[in-house]
Amino acid sequence: MKIAVAGTGYVGLSVALLLSQHNEVHALDIVPEKVAMLNAGKSPIVDTEITRFLDGNQSGDRPLDFHVTLDPAQAYTGADYAIIATPTNYDPQKNYFDTSSVEAAIAAVREHDPDAWIVIKSTIPVGYTAKLREELGDRRILFSPEFLREGHALYDNLHPSRIVAGAPQDDEEAVEAAHRFVELLSQGAEPSEHERMNPDGTEGIPELVVGTTEAEAIKLFANTYLALRVAYFNELDTYAESRGLSTREIIKGVCLDPRIRDDYNNPSFGYGGYCLPKDTKQLLANYDKVPQNLIEAIVDSNTTRKDFIATEILELVARAKASGVADPVVGVYRLTMKAGSDNFRQSAIQGVMKRIKGKGVTVLVYEPTLDQPDFFGSEVTHDLAAFKQRADVIVSNRWSDDLADVKDKVYTRDLFKRD
Ligand SMILES: NC(=O)c1ccc[n+]([C@@H]2O[C@H](COP(=O)([O-])OP(=O)(O)OC[C@H]3O[C@@H](n4cnc5c(N)ncnc54)[C@H](O)[C@@H]3O)[C@@H](O)[C@H]2O)c1
Repeated sequence: MKIAVAGTGYVGLSVALLLSQHNEVHALDIVPEKVAMLNAGKSPIVDTEITRFLDGNQSGDRPLDFHVTLDPAQAYTGADYAIIATPTNYDPQKNYFDTSSVEAAIAAVREHDPDAWIVIKSTIPVGYTAKLREELGDRRILFSPEFLREGHALYDNLHPSRIVAGAPQDDEEAVEAAHRFVELLSQGAEPSEHERMNPDGTEGIPELVVGTTEAEAIKLFANTYLALRVAYFNELDTYAESRGLSTREIIKGVCLDPRIRDDYNNPSFGYGGYCLPKDTKQLLANYDKVPQNLIEAIVDSNTTRKDFIATEILELVARAKASGVADPVVGVYRLTMKAGSDNFRQSAIQGVMKRIKGKGVTVLVYEPTLDQPDFFGSEVTHDLAAFKQRADVIVSNRWSDDLADVKDKVYTRDLFKRD
Protein backbone atom coordinates (compact mmCIF):
# COMPACT_ATOMS: atom_id res chain seq x y z
CA MET A 1 0.00 0.00 0.00
CA LYS A 2 1.27 3.52 -0.76
CA ILE A 3 0.99 5.96 2.12
CA ALA A 4 1.93 9.65 1.99
CA VAL A 5 2.75 11.71 5.08
CA ALA A 6 2.73 15.52 5.04
CA GLY A 7 5.13 16.89 7.67
CA THR A 8 8.22 15.19 9.09
CA GLY A 9 8.13 16.55 12.66
CA TYR A 10 7.58 14.47 15.80
CA VAL A 11 4.23 13.13 14.62
CA GLY A 12 4.80 12.75 10.87
CA LEU A 13 8.24 11.18 11.12
CA SER A 14 7.33 8.65 13.77
CA VAL A 15 4.11 7.59 12.03
CA ALA A 16 5.90 7.42 8.65
CA LEU A 17 8.67 5.19 10.03
CA LEU A 18 6.17 2.98 11.85
CA LEU A 19 4.13 2.44 8.68
CA SER A 20 7.17 1.97 6.43
CA GLN A 21 7.80 -1.41 8.06
CA HIS A 22 4.92 -2.85 6.01
CA ASN A 23 4.00 -0.18 3.42
CA GLU A 24 5.57 2.06 0.81
CA VAL A 25 5.74 5.41 2.64
CA HIS A 26 6.53 8.78 1.09
CA ALA A 27 7.01 11.58 3.61
CA LEU A 28 6.95 15.17 2.39
CA ASP A 29 8.17 18.33 4.08
CA ILE A 30 8.43 21.91 2.86
CA VAL A 31 11.77 22.52 4.62
CA PRO A 32 14.61 21.45 2.27
CA GLU A 33 17.16 21.07 5.13
CA LYS A 34 14.92 18.54 6.90
CA VAL A 35 14.39 16.54 3.74
CA ALA A 36 18.13 16.56 3.00
CA MET A 37 18.94 15.43 6.54
CA LEU A 38 16.44 12.58 6.41
CA ASN A 39 17.67 11.53 2.99
CA ALA A 40 21.15 11.36 4.52
CA GLY A 41 19.69 9.00 7.16
CA LYS A 42 19.89 11.56 9.98
CA SER A 43 17.04 12.46 12.32
CA PRO A 44 16.22 16.17 12.68
CA ILE A 45 14.90 15.42 16.19
CA VAL A 46 16.43 13.65 19.18
CA ASP A 47 14.59 10.33 19.50
CA THR A 48 16.29 7.01 20.20
CA GLU A 49 13.81 4.86 18.28
CA ILE A 50 13.71 7.17 15.24
CA THR A 51 17.51 7.03 15.06
CA ARG A 52 17.41 3.23 15.45
CA PHE A 53 14.98 2.95 12.53
CA LEU A 54 16.91 5.41 10.34
CA ASP A 55 20.04 3.34 11.04
CA GLY A 56 18.16 0.31 9.66
CA ASN A 57 17.94 -1.44 13.03
CA GLN A 58 14.18 -1.81 13.21
CA SER A 59 12.85 -5.12 14.53
CA GLY A 60 12.15 -7.80 11.91
CA ASP A 61 13.99 -8.61 8.69
CA ARG A 62 12.10 -6.36 6.28
CA PRO A 63 13.92 -3.21 5.16
CA LEU A 64 11.94 -0.02 5.63
CA ASP A 65 10.19 1.24 2.48
CA PHE A 66 10.69 4.88 3.48
CA HIS A 67 11.17 7.84 1.13
CA VAL A 68 11.41 11.54 1.88
CA THR A 69 10.73 14.24 -0.67
CA LEU A 70 9.94 17.89 -1.33
CA ASP A 71 7.93 16.90 -4.41
CA PRO A 72 4.14 16.70 -3.86
CA ALA A 73 3.63 14.70 -7.07
CA GLN A 74 6.01 11.98 -5.87
CA ALA A 75 4.50 11.85 -2.41
CA TYR A 76 0.80 12.12 -3.12
CA THR A 77 0.11 10.64 -6.56
CA GLY A 78 -1.48 7.22 -6.22
CA ALA A 79 -1.45 7.21 -2.40
CA ASP A 80 -4.12 5.11 -0.68
CA TYR A 81 -3.82 7.14 2.50
CA ALA A 82 -2.39 10.65 2.97
CA ILE A 83 -1.64 11.51 6.58
CA ILE A 84 -1.49 15.17 7.58
CA ALA A 85 0.97 15.93 10.40
CA THR A 86 1.62 19.66 10.01
CA PRO A 87 1.64 22.28 12.81
CA THR A 88 -1.49 23.78 14.35
CA ASN A 89 -0.15 26.62 16.46
CA TYR A 90 -2.51 28.55 18.70
CA ASP A 91 -3.32 31.95 17.23
CA PRO A 92 -3.71 34.37 20.17
CA GLN A 93 -5.44 36.92 17.90
CA LYS A 94 -8.17 34.54 16.83
CA ASN A 95 -8.16 32.54 20.08
CA TYR A 96 -8.15 29.41 17.95
CA PHE A 97 -5.71 27.03 16.30
CA ASP A 98 -4.17 28.23 13.06
CA THR A 99 -5.09 25.31 10.79
CA SER A 100 -3.75 26.87 7.58
CA SER A 101 -0.92 24.33 7.17
CA VAL A 102 -3.42 21.47 7.40
CA GLU A 103 -5.57 23.10 4.72
CA ALA A 104 -2.51 23.75 2.51
CA ALA A 105 -1.41 20.12 2.81
CA ILE A 106 -4.91 18.82 2.03
CA ALA A 107 -5.11 21.06 -1.06
CA ALA A 108 -1.74 19.71 -2.23
CA VAL A 109 -2.87 16.11 -1.73
CA ARG A 110 -6.07 16.70 -3.69
CA GLU A 111 -4.17 18.34 -6.56
CA HIS A 112 -2.37 15.06 -7.14
CA ASP A 113 -4.76 12.47 -5.79
CA PRO A 114 -8.54 12.94 -5.78
CA ASP A 115 -9.17 9.54 -4.16
CA ALA A 116 -6.73 9.09 -1.27
CA TRP A 117 -8.24 8.77 2.18
CA ILE A 118 -6.89 11.80 4.01
CA VAL A 119 -6.24 11.21 7.72
CA ILE A 120 -5.54 14.34 9.78
CA LYS A 121 -3.14 13.52 12.64
CA SER A 122 -2.48 17.14 13.56
CA THR A 123 -4.42 18.25 16.64
CA ILE A 124 -7.38 20.32 15.47
CA PRO A 125 -10.36 22.12 17.04
CA VAL A 126 -13.39 20.02 17.96
CA GLY A 127 -15.71 19.90 14.95
CA TYR A 128 -13.02 20.85 12.43
CA THR A 129 -13.05 17.72 10.25
CA ALA A 130 -16.83 17.69 9.83
CA LYS A 131 -16.80 21.38 8.89
CA LEU A 132 -13.96 20.88 6.41
CA ARG A 133 -15.63 17.86 4.80
CA GLU A 134 -18.69 19.98 4.23
CA GLU A 135 -16.84 23.09 3.04
CA LEU A 136 -14.70 21.13 0.59
CA GLY A 137 -17.49 18.74 -0.41
CA ASP A 138 -14.94 15.99 0.28
CA ARG A 139 -16.13 12.96 2.26
CA ARG A 140 -12.76 11.20 2.25
CA ILE A 141 -11.28 13.11 5.22
CA LEU A 142 -10.81 11.31 8.54
CA PHE A 143 -9.13 12.23 11.82
CA SER A 144 -6.89 10.16 14.06
CA PRO A 145 -5.58 11.73 17.29
CA GLU A 146 -1.90 11.32 18.10
CA PHE A 147 -0.89 10.65 21.72
CA LEU A 148 2.91 10.47 21.49
CA ARG A 149 5.29 12.21 23.90
CA GLU A 150 8.22 14.21 22.55
CA GLY A 151 11.45 12.32 23.20
CA HIS A 152 9.51 9.03 22.88
CA ALA A 153 7.74 9.77 19.61
CA LEU A 154 8.34 6.52 17.75
CA TYR A 155 8.40 4.45 20.96
CA ASP A 156 4.87 5.62 21.74
CA ASN A 157 3.73 4.61 18.26
CA LEU A 158 5.40 1.22 18.62
CA HIS A 159 3.75 0.81 22.04
CA PRO A 160 0.51 2.79 21.79
CA SER A 161 -1.76 3.21 24.82
CA ARG A 162 -4.66 3.13 22.33
CA ILE A 163 -5.36 3.72 18.64
CA VAL A 164 -8.27 6.00 17.85
CA ALA A 165 -9.69 6.97 14.47
CA GLY A 166 -12.66 9.16 13.63
CA ALA A 167 -15.00 8.80 10.66
CA PRO A 168 -18.54 10.02 10.03
CA GLN A 169 -20.58 7.19 11.52
CA ASP A 170 -23.26 7.38 8.83
CA ASP A 171 -20.74 6.77 6.03
CA GLU A 172 -20.02 3.04 5.87
CA GLU A 173 -17.11 3.39 3.44
CA ALA A 174 -15.44 6.03 5.62
CA VAL A 175 -15.90 3.91 8.75
CA GLU A 176 -14.29 0.97 6.93
CA ALA A 177 -11.39 3.20 5.82
CA ALA A 178 -10.94 4.29 9.45
CA HIS A 179 -10.87 0.65 10.61
CA ARG A 180 -8.27 -0.17 7.94
CA PHE A 181 -6.17 2.80 9.10
CA VAL A 182 -6.31 1.56 12.70
CA GLU A 183 -5.16 -1.86 11.47
CA LEU A 184 -2.22 -0.27 9.63
CA LEU A 185 -1.04 1.48 12.81
CA SER A 186 -1.62 -1.64 14.86
CA GLN A 187 0.32 -3.80 12.38
CA GLY A 188 3.41 -1.61 12.90
CA ALA A 189 3.21 -1.73 16.71
CA GLU A 190 5.40 -3.96 18.86
CA PRO A 191 3.98 -6.02 21.77
CA SER A 192 3.18 -3.46 24.43
CA GLU A 193 3.16 -3.40 28.20
CA HIS A 194 -0.27 -1.81 27.84
CA GLU A 195 -1.59 -5.12 26.48
CA ARG A 196 -1.69 -6.43 30.02
CA MET A 197 -3.11 -3.24 31.43
CA ASN A 198 -6.31 -2.44 29.58
CA PRO A 199 -8.64 -1.00 32.19
CA ASP A 200 -11.64 -2.75 30.59
CA GLY A 201 -10.01 -6.17 30.99
CA THR A 202 -9.45 -6.69 27.25
CA GLU A 203 -6.17 -7.83 25.75
CA GLY A 204 -4.23 -6.22 22.91
CA ILE A 205 -3.97 -2.59 21.91
CA PRO A 206 -7.28 -0.86 22.65
CA GLU A 207 -8.78 0.34 19.35
CA LEU A 208 -11.60 2.80 18.92
CA VAL A 209 -13.38 4.00 15.78
CA VAL A 210 -15.72 6.87 16.62
CA GLY A 211 -17.15 10.00 14.98
CA THR A 212 -14.56 12.55 13.85
CA THR A 213 -15.84 15.16 16.31
CA GLU A 214 -15.67 12.66 19.19
CA ALA A 215 -12.11 11.72 18.12
CA GLU A 216 -11.10 15.40 18.12
CA ALA A 217 -12.66 15.82 21.57
CA ILE A 218 -10.78 12.74 22.86
CA LYS A 219 -7.47 14.40 21.96
CA LEU A 220 -8.22 17.78 23.54
CA PHE A 221 -9.86 16.33 26.67
CA ALA A 222 -6.96 13.89 27.16
CA ASN A 223 -4.35 16.65 26.99
CA THR A 224 -6.43 18.96 29.17
CA TYR A 225 -6.68 16.20 31.79
CA LEU A 226 -2.88 15.83 31.72
CA ALA A 227 -2.55 19.61 32.11
CA LEU A 228 -5.04 19.49 35.00
CA ARG A 229 -2.94 16.87 36.74
CA VAL A 230 0.26 18.89 36.37
CA ALA A 231 -1.54 22.04 37.50
CA TYR A 232 -3.08 20.22 40.49
CA PHE A 233 0.22 19.00 41.91
CA ASN A 234 1.80 22.37 41.14
CA GLU A 235 -0.92 24.13 43.15
CA LEU A 236 -0.43 21.60 45.94
CA ASP A 237 3.25 22.56 45.89
CA THR A 238 2.46 26.29 45.84
CA TYR A 239 0.30 25.78 48.94
CA ALA A 240 2.89 23.68 50.76
CA GLU A 241 5.71 26.11 49.94
CA SER A 242 3.63 29.09 51.07
CA ARG A 243 2.75 27.39 54.37
CA GLY A 244 6.19 25.88 55.04
CA LEU A 245 4.99 22.28 54.61
CA SER A 246 6.68 19.29 52.98
CA THR A 247 5.28 18.91 49.46
CA ARG A 248 7.05 15.58 49.15
CA GLU A 249 5.28 14.07 52.16
CA ILE A 250 1.89 15.40 51.14
CA ILE A 251 2.15 14.10 47.56
CA LYS A 252 3.37 10.73 48.79
CA GLY A 253 0.42 10.38 51.17
CA VAL A 254 -2.10 11.59 48.60
CA CYS A 255 -0.81 9.33 45.83
CA LEU A 256 -0.81 6.13 47.87
CA ASP A 257 -4.51 6.04 46.97
CA PRO A 258 -4.60 3.66 43.98
CA ARG A 259 -7.30 5.81 42.35
CA ILE A 260 -4.90 8.79 42.37
CA ARG A 261 -1.71 6.83 41.54
CA ASP A 262 1.89 7.70 42.29
CA ASP A 263 2.91 9.04 38.88
CA TYR A 264 2.72 12.21 36.79
CA ASN A 265 2.70 14.16 40.05
CA ASN A 266 6.11 15.81 40.12
CA PRO A 267 5.93 19.59 40.67
CA SER A 268 7.36 21.85 37.97
CA PHE A 269 7.43 25.49 36.90
CA GLY A 270 4.20 24.87 34.94
CA TYR A 271 2.96 22.65 32.14
CA GLY A 272 4.70 23.45 28.89
CA GLY A 273 5.77 22.03 25.57
CA TYR A 274 4.12 22.35 22.21
CA CYS A 275 0.83 20.70 23.04
CA LEU A 276 -0.58 21.20 26.57
CA PRO A 277 -0.60 25.04 26.59
CA LYS A 278 -2.23 25.32 23.17
CA ASP A 279 -4.58 22.34 23.44
CA THR A 280 -6.08 23.52 26.74
CA LYS A 281 -6.70 26.97 25.25
CA GLN A 282 -8.31 25.45 22.15
CA LEU A 283 -10.61 23.30 24.28
CA LEU A 284 -11.60 26.38 26.28
CA ALA A 285 -12.38 28.16 22.98
CA ASN A 286 -14.51 25.17 21.94
CA TYR A 287 -16.54 25.58 25.17
CA ASP A 288 -17.98 28.81 23.72
CA LYS A 289 -21.49 29.19 25.24
CA VAL A 290 -21.14 25.85 27.08
CA PRO A 291 -20.99 26.20 30.90
CA GLN A 292 -17.64 25.34 32.47
CA ASN A 293 -15.38 26.27 35.40
CA LEU A 294 -12.58 23.77 35.32
CA ILE A 295 -11.22 24.23 31.81
CA GLU A 296 -10.68 27.94 32.30
CA ALA A 297 -9.14 27.29 35.71
CA ILE A 298 -6.65 24.84 34.16
CA VAL A 299 -5.56 27.50 31.67
CA ASP A 300 -5.35 30.23 34.34
CA SER A 301 -3.60 27.99 36.85
CA ASN A 302 -0.49 27.78 34.67
CA THR A 303 -0.15 31.57 34.68
CA THR A 304 -0.59 31.72 38.45
CA ARG A 305 2.04 29.03 38.90
CA LYS A 306 4.62 30.86 36.79
CA ASP A 307 3.86 34.07 38.74
CA PHE A 308 4.49 32.18 41.99
CA ILE A 309 7.76 30.62 40.78
CA ALA A 310 8.97 34.02 39.56
CA THR A 311 8.16 35.56 42.95
CA GLU A 312 10.16 32.84 44.73
CA ILE A 313 13.15 33.46 42.44
CA LEU A 314 12.89 37.22 42.98
CA GLU A 315 13.09 36.57 46.74
CA LEU A 316 16.35 34.67 46.21
CA VAL A 317 17.65 37.58 44.13
CA ALA A 318 16.68 40.00 46.92
CA ARG A 319 18.53 37.80 49.42
CA ALA A 320 21.64 37.80 47.23
CA LYS A 321 21.46 41.59 47.03
CA ALA A 322 21.09 41.84 50.82
CA SER A 323 24.24 39.74 51.20
CA GLY A 324 26.22 42.24 49.12
CA VAL A 325 25.91 41.13 45.46
CA ALA A 326 25.18 44.36 43.55
CA ASP A 327 23.58 42.85 40.44
CA PRO A 328 22.81 39.17 41.07
CA VAL A 329 22.78 36.98 37.96
CA VAL A 330 20.07 34.36 37.59
CA GLY A 331 21.34 31.41 35.57
CA VAL A 332 18.73 29.50 33.60
CA TYR A 333 19.85 25.90 33.26
CA ARG A 334 18.31 24.67 29.98
CA LEU A 335 15.36 26.14 28.10
CA THR A 336 13.91 22.73 27.35
CA MET A 337 10.46 21.71 28.49
CA LYS A 338 11.62 18.66 30.46
CA ALA A 339 14.56 16.28 30.82
CA GLY A 340 15.01 14.29 27.60
CA SER A 341 13.27 16.88 25.42
CA ASP A 342 15.25 18.49 22.62
CA ASN A 343 13.09 21.53 22.02
CA PHE A 344 11.81 24.42 24.05
CA ARG A 345 8.55 25.36 22.36
CA GLN A 346 6.41 26.99 25.08
CA SER A 347 8.58 25.67 27.92
CA ALA A 348 7.48 26.99 31.33
CA ILE A 349 10.96 28.32 32.10
CA GLN A 350 10.56 30.90 29.33
CA GLY A 351 7.46 32.33 31.03
CA VAL A 352 9.39 32.51 34.30
CA MET A 353 12.34 34.20 32.55
CA LYS A 354 10.06 36.80 31.04
CA ARG A 355 8.66 37.65 34.47
CA ILE A 356 11.98 38.03 36.28
CA LYS A 357 13.50 39.98 33.39
CA GLY A 358 10.50 42.30 33.58
CA LYS A 359 11.73 43.12 37.11
CA GLY A 360 15.17 44.06 35.80
CA VAL A 361 17.01 40.86 36.76
CA THR A 362 20.08 39.87 34.70
CA VAL A 363 19.62 36.41 33.21
CA LEU A 364 22.32 34.12 31.83
CA VAL A 365 21.17 31.07 29.85
CA TYR A 366 22.96 27.73 29.63
CA GLU A 367 21.52 25.96 26.61
CA PRO A 368 23.98 23.80 24.64
CA THR A 369 21.51 23.19 21.79
CA LEU A 370 21.01 26.91 21.11
CA ASP A 371 23.50 28.19 18.57
CA GLN A 372 23.10 31.94 19.07
CA PRO A 373 24.77 34.45 21.38
CA ASP A 374 21.58 35.63 23.07
CA PHE A 375 18.00 34.59 23.71
CA PHE A 376 15.50 37.46 23.87
CA GLY A 377 18.31 39.78 25.00
CA SER A 378 19.84 37.38 27.57
CA GLU A 379 23.34 36.03 27.05
CA VAL A 380 23.58 32.34 26.09
CA THR A 381 26.59 30.27 27.07
CA HIS A 382 27.69 26.72 26.26
CA ASP A 383 30.36 26.82 28.97
CA LEU A 384 28.85 25.00 31.94
CA ALA A 385 31.73 25.73 34.34
CA ALA A 386 31.60 29.49 33.61
CA PHE A 387 27.79 29.43 33.87
CA LYS A 388 27.93 27.85 37.32
CA GLN A 389 30.57 30.29 38.43
CA ARG A 390 28.84 33.44 37.13
CA ALA A 391 25.29 32.66 38.27
CA ASP A 392 24.34 33.69 41.81
CA VAL A 393 21.06 31.76 41.62
CA ILE A 394 20.52 28.84 39.21
CA VAL A 395 16.99 27.96 38.18
CA SER A 396 16.23 24.62 36.62
CA ASN A 397 12.81 23.21 35.86
CA ARG A 398 14.28 19.72 36.07
CA TRP A 399 17.20 18.66 38.24
CA SER A 400 20.40 17.55 36.54
CA ASP A 401 23.44 15.93 38.10
CA ASP A 402 25.40 18.56 36.14
CA LEU A 403 24.41 20.87 38.98
CA ALA A 404 25.40 18.62 41.90
CA ASP A 405 28.50 20.70 42.79
CA VAL A 406 26.47 23.93 43.00
CA LYS A 407 23.30 22.52 44.51
CA ASP A 408 23.12 25.28 47.15
CA LYS A 409 22.59 27.81 44.35
CA VAL A 410 19.90 25.78 42.59
CA TYR A 411 16.20 26.59 42.69
CA THR A 412 14.00 23.78 41.31
CA ARG A 413 10.67 22.22 42.25
CA ASP A 414 11.70 18.86 40.73
CA LEU A 415 11.17 16.80 43.89
CA PHE A 416 11.00 13.31 42.43
CA LYS A 417 13.48 13.63 39.54
CA ARG A 418 11.07 12.32 36.90
CA ASP A 419 8.48 13.41 34.28
N1 LIG B 1 4.79 17.10 19.27
C1 LIG B 1 3.93 16.38 19.95
O1 LIG B 1 4.23 15.88 21.05
C2 LIG B 1 2.55 16.12 19.40
C3 LIG B 1 1.77 15.09 19.96
C4 LIG B 1 0.49 14.88 19.48
C5 LIG B 1 -0.03 15.69 18.49
N2 LIG B 1 0.74 16.70 17.98
C6 LIG B 1 0.15 17.54 16.93
O2 LIG B 1 0.64 17.13 15.66
C7 LIG B 1 0.85 18.26 14.81
C8 LIG B 1 2.31 18.30 14.39
O3 LIG B 1 3.10 18.41 15.53
P1 LIG B 1 4.68 18.15 15.49
O4 LIG B 1 5.17 18.28 16.88
O5 LIG B 1 4.96 16.91 14.72
O6 LIG B 1 5.13 19.43 14.64
P2 LIG B 1 6.57 19.78 14.05
O7 LIG B 1 6.65 21.25 14.05
O8 LIG B 1 7.62 18.98 14.77
O9 LIG B 1 6.50 19.23 12.56
C9 LIG B 1 5.64 19.71 11.59
C10 LIG B 1 6.31 19.59 10.23
O10 LIG B 1 5.36 19.94 9.22
C11 LIG B 1 6.07 20.64 8.20
N3 LIG B 1 5.09 21.38 7.38
C12 LIG B 1 4.51 22.58 7.60
N4 LIG B 1 3.63 22.87 6.64
C13 LIG B 1 3.65 21.82 5.76
C14 LIG B 1 2.95 21.51 4.57
N5 LIG B 1 2.05 22.35 4.06
N6 LIG B 1 3.21 20.34 3.96
C15 LIG B 1 4.12 19.48 4.46
N7 LIG B 1 4.81 19.70 5.61
C16 LIG B 1 4.58 20.87 6.25
C17 LIG B 1 7.06 21.49 8.96
O11 LIG B 1 8.12 21.90 8.12
C18 LIG B 1 7.51 20.52 10.06
O12 LIG B 1 8.63 19.76 9.66
C19 LIG B 1 0.37 19.47 15.60
O13 LIG B 1 -0.96 19.69 15.31
C20 LIG B 1 0.51 19.01 17.05
O14 LIG B 1 -0.39 19.68 17.90
C21 LIG B 1 2.02 16.92 18.40
